[in-house]
Amino acid sequence: MSDITVIGLGAMGSALAATLIKHGLKVTVWNRSADKAAALIERGAQQAKSIQDAITASPVILVSVLDYPAARHILEQATQVLSGHTLINLTNGTPDQARTMADWVTAQGADYVDGAVMVTPELVGGTAAFLFYSGNELAFRQHERTLALLGNPVYIGNNVALAAIYDLALLASMFGMFGGYLHAAALLRSENISVTEVAPMIMSLLKAMIELYPDIAEQVDTGAQPTPSSNNAMMAVALKNIIDGSREQGVLDELMVPVWSLFERGTRQGLGAQDIAALVPLLARDASLAPSTHTPSMEPA
Ligand SMILES: NC(=O)c1ccc[n+]([C@@H]2O[C@H](COP(=O)([O-])OP(=O)(O)OC[C@H]3O[C@@H](n4cnc5c(N)ncnc54)[C@H](OP(=O)(O)O)[C@@H]3O)[C@@H](O)[C@H]2O)c1
Repeated sequence: MSDITVIGLGAMGSALAATLIKHGLKVTVWNRSADKAAALIERGAQQAKSIQDAITASPVILVSVLDYPAARHILEQATQVLSGHTLINLTNGTPDQARTMADWVTAQGADYVDGAVMVTPELVGGTAAFLFYSGNELAFRQHERTLALLGNPVYIGNNVALAAIYDLALLASMFGMFGGYLHAAALLRSENISVTEVAPMIMSLLKAMIELYPDIAEQVDTGAQPTPSSNNAMMAVALKNIIDGSREQGVLDELMVPVWSLFERGTRQGLGAQDIAALVPLLARDASLAPSTHTPSMEPA
């Protein structure tokens, strides 16, 4: 009998398993491609011969595979042995996928906790690591000390969809930042400028902008509308200049047009003199300020 089973030995599952082994836990592992277990077996992991053996080996099962369809496909081959186990699914997915998985796993007689790893594999188990959890609180508390070995375990609530919503919100912030950085790099390279040279200046600007996040959050949450130092109408013009300037330099505008579109729409709808927090309701499908059907022109003015 093992302490814990890890299903999925990609970059993340392997890091989770290795961290648990490092802390002295008996770990059983299973992966679709069995050869990926080799390095973990060398460190002391037990390799399950089948997914059924992987489940029966431990009271608690961690799942970290590419997506929910893969996780469901794997688990459906072990329905007869799931009952009585706790399944903690750290696979990235949507709120609805988490709800559906919770219903299905619970119907098999197992406890279900949904989760999300908020660091890259090499940081798992380190001080920067944190993971979100939601769903069955009793099951989470029973295994909290083990989960703490992977990174700070942040339990959000009984609503099983919460971990996925938090996960996607944080990833949206990250990918938005990466998108801007990739566009900046392409624009710089269009004039043969070293991105390496400019990167510290970009970082300096972003660090200053990050400091605005708590104020923006408060404005979104409370609806407060302080007089902005940077108003939306001004920023819509600057964003259009990024688009036009990029086109002049032969750089595609696919990443920046959606951002400009939001600022431009907000300005047309009377939010030009306000701060960026005022634009958030425009992103809600059923907000009172419904998104316009206006399609921004893709042609240079
Ligand atoms: N890597 C990161 O930085 C990071 C950070 C946070 C969260 N995550 C999340 O962690 C999860 C795993 O990511 P990863 O980085 O480990 O990805 P990965 O290295 O690409 O590994 C994917 C894993 O999913 C398995 N898989 C894919 N399709 C499958 C299928 N149809 N049936 C069975 N198994 C299947 C793969 O099995 P095979 O080996 O057989 O292909 C492998 O174990 C994802 O949900 C990801 O979003 C990753």
